[in-house]
Amino acid sequence: MEIVRTVEALRGWSRAIRMQDETVGLVPTMGALHAGHASLMRAAAEQCGHVAVTIFVNPTQFGPQEDFDRYPRTFEADCMLAEREGARVVFAPPVEEMYPAGAATFVDVEGLSGRLDGASRPGHFRGVATVVAKLLIAAEADRAYFGQKDAAQVAVLRRMVRDLRIGTELVVCPIVREADGLALSSRNVYLSTDERRQALALSRAVKRVEAMAAGGERRAALLTEAARQTLASEPAVRVDYAELVEWATLEPVEIATAGTLFAVAAWVGATRLIDNAVMG
Ligand code: PAF
Repeated sequence: MEIVRTVEALRGWSRAIRMQDETVGLVPTMGALHAGHASLMRAAAEQCGHVAVTIFVNPTQFGPQEDFDRYPRTFEADCMLAEREGARVVFAPPVEEMYPAGAATFVDVEGLSGRLDGASRPGHFRGVATVVAKLLIAAEADRAYFGQKDAAQVAVLRRMVRDLRIGTELVVCPIVREADGLALSSRNVYLSTDERRQALALSRAVKRVEAMAAGGERRAALLTEAARQTLASEPAVRVDYAELVEWATLEPVEIATAGTLFAVAAWVGATRLIDNAVMG
């Protein structure tokens, strides 16, 4: 497996593959890779001839008080995992490669970028959309793989790809959970043992909403109230949002129908976690 640091090298690798009529799958990540990322790489390896994984902790998607500096960086272990899962290339650029001095161009998906995580993390989705646009333009991949755990991010990126007519297909893979239900996240390492236990309130809230909806309760107000009650049962958990929204627009709905997204974000101590489910 090769490690490349420049856009030119990544694009050259991808073009050489596509010239031979073979396909390229891209898995964008910020590193600190876990089984959730591995599932994206496996999907990419199954569906594409060649897989590139990007590892770049993107400064523009972190707010000034957020965890950019202490975000876990585990490059060696990440490369081993990527290689094991069939990646041919890891693209790990320095910040100046993605943001050359004086870079003044950003991608803002208006409206969507201010909803859910975008409401409590101003500028976050502008940073995500900008870096993913740069990665997709650099890699010229056939498909790019993202996890459903970041469901609001998926909505923003789907709209961006549609609006900018980017020729990469976005593939969304299911949430990967620990045996007890906790959704995998690179930020889970911040949790103390007790916070780790209390964090299960998020997946319990998601399950409760799914079960109520499956049982016929479709009123968003009642479903979100039940989720909030579950979250309130743990003292270290502080809700950011618990909402039923149309996935494509992230607009709240009053009645949940098939395809409606239930999404939750909460701080567990100082760590902000997210989880969600798509209603059947
Ligand atoms: O989901 C992530 O890890 C990041 O937001 C992404 C898509 C790699 C952009 O930095």
